[in-house]
Amino acid sequence: MERTYLMVKPDGVQRNLIGDIVSRFEKKGFTLVGAKLMTIPKELAETHYGEHKERPFFGELVSFITSGPVFAMVWEGENVISTARTMMGSTNPAEAAPGTIRGDYGVRVSMNVIHGSDSPASAEREISLFFEEQELNEYDKVV
Ligand code: CMP
Repeated sequence: MERTYLMVKPDGVQRNLIGDIVSRFEKKGFTLVGAKLMTIPKELAETHYGEHKERPFFGELVSFITSGPVFAMVWEGENVISTARTMMGSTNPAEAAPGTIRGDYGVRVSMNVIHGSDSPASAEREISLFFEEQELNEYDKVV
């Protein structure tokens, strides 16, 4: 079954949005297989956002994501990678549709509440960066 890495960013954690965001993915029918509140070390942030290294906003991106705790999650389900991206909305909250997470809560592109893997390769890479194998759970839903 497909898995993705999702992360409530420091702005979302501080605005008490963890519950709402988890609830959206639960109600959609996806399965939470791993989760933790953590403060990202600078080196991990630089690795995670490595593809943006040459961008002018890289420094700002790393300092923001390490500025306070994030809520890191692994979700499982059919087409969870692309469906989660749809539920998150456009990267720039100003362009994100109402009803999406960023459309409802985002303020600006650098503080856009949530991160989600953009492809199967990114999902695999990001899950292994943030979680040990034993932190991921397997279960059959009983309801
Ligand atoms: P995310 O999905 O976490 O992946 C890369 C992040 O870079 C993106 O969300 C935005 O928060 C951030 N980002 C993109 N463009 C800019 C920008 N122009 N200035 C600051 N941050 C940006």
